[in-house]
Amino acid sequence: MKRIKALFIIVAMAALPSYSAIPATKAEKEKMDKFVSELISRMTLDEKIGQLNLPPGEDIQTGDAIRSNLGSLVASGKAGGTFNVKGASKVLELQKLAVEKTRLGIPLLIGMDVVHGYETVFPIPFALSASWDIPAIENSARIAAKEASAAGINWTFSPMVDISREPRWGRMAEGAGEDPYLGSRIAEAMVRGYQGDRLKGNDEIMACVKHFALYGAPDAGRDYNTVDMSRVRMYNDYLAPYKAASDAGAGSFMSSFNLVDYVPATANKWLLTDLLRDQWGFKGFVVTDYGSINEMKSHGMGDSPENSVRTLKAGTDMDMSSDAFISNLADAVGKGIVSEAEIDKALRRVLEAKYMLGLFDNPYKYNDIGREKSDIYSEANRKAARDLAAETFVLLRNEGKILPIEKKGKIALIGPLANTSANMCGTWSVAADFPKYKTLLQGFRDAVGDKAEIRYAKGSNVYSDKDIEAAGSVFGRDIRDPRSEEELLDEAVAVAKEADVIVAAMGETSESTGEAACRTDLTIPDTQRRLLEALIATGKPLVLINFSGRPTVMTWESENIPAIMNVWFAGSEGADAIADVVFGEKNPSGKLTATMPRNVGQIPIHYNHMRTGRPATSESFQKFRSNYIDSGITPLYPFGFGLSYTDFTYGKIELDSDRLSSGGEINASVTVTNSGDRTGDEIVQFYISDPAASLARPVKELKYFERISLKPGESRKITFPITAENLKFYNSDLEFVAEPGLFRVMAGPDSERLSSAEFTLVE
Ligand code: BGC
Repeated sequence: MKRIKALFIIVAMAALPSYSAIPATKAEKEKMDKFVSELISRMTLDEKIGQLNLPPGEDIQTGDAIRSNLGSLVASGKAGGTFNVKGASKVLELQKLAVEKTRLGIPLLIGMDVVHGYETVFPIPFALSASWDIPAIENSARIAAKEASAAGINWTFSPMVDISREPRWGRMAEGAGEDPYLGSRIAEAMVRGYQGDRLKGNDEIMACVKHFALYGAPDAGRDYNTVDMSRVRMYNDYLAPYKAASDAGAGSFMSSFNLVDYVPATANKWLLTDLLRDQWGFKGFVVTDYGSINEMKSHGMGDSPENSVRTLKAGTDMDMSSDAFISNLADAVGKGIVSEAEIDKALRRVLEAKYMLGLFDNPYKYNDIGREKSDIYSEANRKAARDLAAETFVLLRNEGKILPIEKKGKIALIGPLANTSANMCGTWSVAADFPKYKTLLQGFRDAVGDKAEIRYAKGSNVYSDKDIEAAGSVFGRDIRDPRSEEELLDEAVAVAKEADVIVAAMGETSESTGEAACRTDLTIPDTQRRLLEALIATGKPLVLINFSGRPTVMTWESENIPAIMNVWFAGSEGADAIADVVFGEKNPSGKLTATMPRNVGQIPIHYNHMRTGRPATSESFQKFRSNYIDSGITPLYPFGFGLSYTDFTYGKIELDSDRLSSGGEINASVTVTNSGDRTGDEIVQFYISDPAASLARPVKELKYFERISLKPGESRKITFPITAENLKFYNSDLEFVAEPGLFRVMAGPDSERLSSAEFTLVE
């Protein structure tokens, strides 16, 4: 203990004025290696295995709870960290136990699912992606890191970068949607935001990229279910964001619950070692997901002792909540099944993470208790969250320009999601403090002041079926109304009849998405549909504000309601942000990052699909073509779609050359004009297609975008510099290649309304 403390002091003095961080030079790396090697040489086998154990905190548990003796585990050196403990003083107590009570005083990793903000809650990640605003998303992660670190957290289980084409899957809410290019830009931005300047500062925390890998493609859209796909699809469509996050220097990865090639990701050597470390060069550590070593038995993979060994040997370093490593690895070493060198390999990575976080310089680096009051939920953070939330809303329809609404007369605000602060934030709002946040009703009232009257009625429950509603209302978010359906409806119709305009706040509850919150019916639930029908019957102008954590099926609504805006779950400042847009202080600019289907039967539907040998050429049924007897094949709203209160017109795409050499660059440009009467932001998108290649390629793929702001009448030329890099894909041998030949480049406001030009890649 004394010796290691002396070592802390020496290193601390040498590293002054800043803490040790992710090494930037060979000398810094050597210094870290030396420190860690010396520390390892002093450790007993039990102490080593203790560092590989990550028991849950007692505040939030998602799987089978294992125990409630966290303090004694820490004090006896049987934990390398813990997670989801809220509050600076609680965290400090645990850190003190590790530092003062254990023989070597090795500090803890303190993790948390800070997935879209801490107490200042940003919109859910799926919503954030709809802003396409990479700098603002990076800033949201920066703010999340500042707040979380003020509460003692030094490690976040984010970004979640699972690509998904599966809106039935509740966890779509946590990711960036269906596109690997956009997903990659967001993944790297979030890593930068969390980790800042190489983890130097006490407000920079380690990212944990999850869930590795392919978790977003479960069979039948059911959480934790089997995933099975070809390597070509993995490499081309799903792996890019994980790799981008690794390339951005993420300090850790979390493996996923699903199978990859029939082996649970937790113990998949190909995935965790051959791909992640050997091919991609990832240098950080890998933690399992919650209890997933134990779950291997349910997957049909034997018992805990052998699964622990498999997991370690596959390249996993830390066991989250299974107790498997601490229960089995010492014995396995004793039997010679696992070598101490294999334990040391994992241990080294965990200790390096602590070193890079600066915890050996100052184990209390993240325990500045005073910061909790000043740095959390500050005015500046809330403003950033409010501004970014407004950028995430997607205006789907606005017939007759009902939106924005003028602040005058009587406005009816109706619907089960209009008056609930607990449902503003969305899933994984682990550190949220709901009573502090406004309901939409409060947001509307504050926005209009005495200029207009906001009348409210709930109108319906979320679902007719109370059990379904309960399943989507966990973690204290129950809003079930005991009144009968008729009573609720009658009250709402009476309020609506008196109003000049109706705003309906509907959709799904926060916890109808997220982990283990899958749905087979993606429409706005039954009882709310009846309410909508009654509101339409009043003949008043009607706006639907749809709350959702996934693409909703709104085919009926799109035929019957003139104005629809998707607001997802907009976070702690969501109510003000929605009011900003509804009343026209801000102009909506979000664009869909996942295709909205016409019906559940079209799923998986995504813009970057493959061609078939028998493509349909019309929405009507054609025999012996790839289509449906009972539905069209096009989406209700395509990827990249979203309207504004102003209009943008696009010129035709232009190329400065129709020949690109493999080392060269050509420019594709398009001129965009704000032809409406308001300033607005537009997300200009460029796609590429490769019509003839050595293997079949998607119809188009997003390759570039810019988010721009234009005043009325203003035009801007946006240029996509194309190089061979943009044309590369993984071929049948999984080589990343650009094949010479013809390519098509397209530009436009979404993935369907595009103009195109052709060029040839020459050798
Ligand atoms: C989730 C992870 C999360 C972990 C810790 C698991 O159930 O799959 O996303 O980070 O719990 O809370």
